[in-house]
Amino acid sequence: MTQLRELIIDEMRDILHAEGQLLNALPKMAQAANHPKLREAFEKHLTQTQMQIERLKEALEMLGGETQPKECPGMMGLIEEGQEAIKEGKEKDPIASDLGLIAAAQKVEHYEISAYGTIRSMARLIGEREVATLMSHTLGEEESADHLLTEIAKPILQEAAMEEFEMAGERS
Ligand SMILES: [Fe+2]
Repeated sequence: MTQLRELIIDEMRDILHAEGQLLNALPKMAQAANHPKLREAFEKHLTQTQMQIERLKEALEMLGGETQPKECPGMMGLIEEGQEAIKEGKEKDPIASDLGLIAAAQKVEHYEISAYGTIRSMARLIGEREVATLMSHTLGEEESADHLLTEIAKPILQEAAMEEFEMAGERS
């Protein structure tokens, strides 16, 4: 097996572990969300994550690689941050709590976007077009999940800014 192929397999097993961890974290994120649209987004991404795991295993088999996940400390750290956002959010008002959850979730999405983008490029390089197509599909889902979070954050941010403005008015 070439070094590049080995590297792709390694990267895929790494993100497989990351997705597996996310599968456990997303229900907690959904439960902690206050805004119904945010909760819905987390629940939708949970279903997508399950399919992404299947897609990764399928692609790993196509490459002749092991389908055993490889520990991903990067995602472990991001999920820890998410758990912190949940915990700290309990002490905050619903708006601030949701914004904390969105911030944590977007860091996760960006990590995944970067991982899948790299895997897709490398798969194209070695002529594994089917693997690249599968990874393109997942990449698209991660990008839409990220955009959706940005859209959901907009009205919540506006509300938070309004509050800020009102409080500044009271102070003056
Ligand atoms: Fe994912």
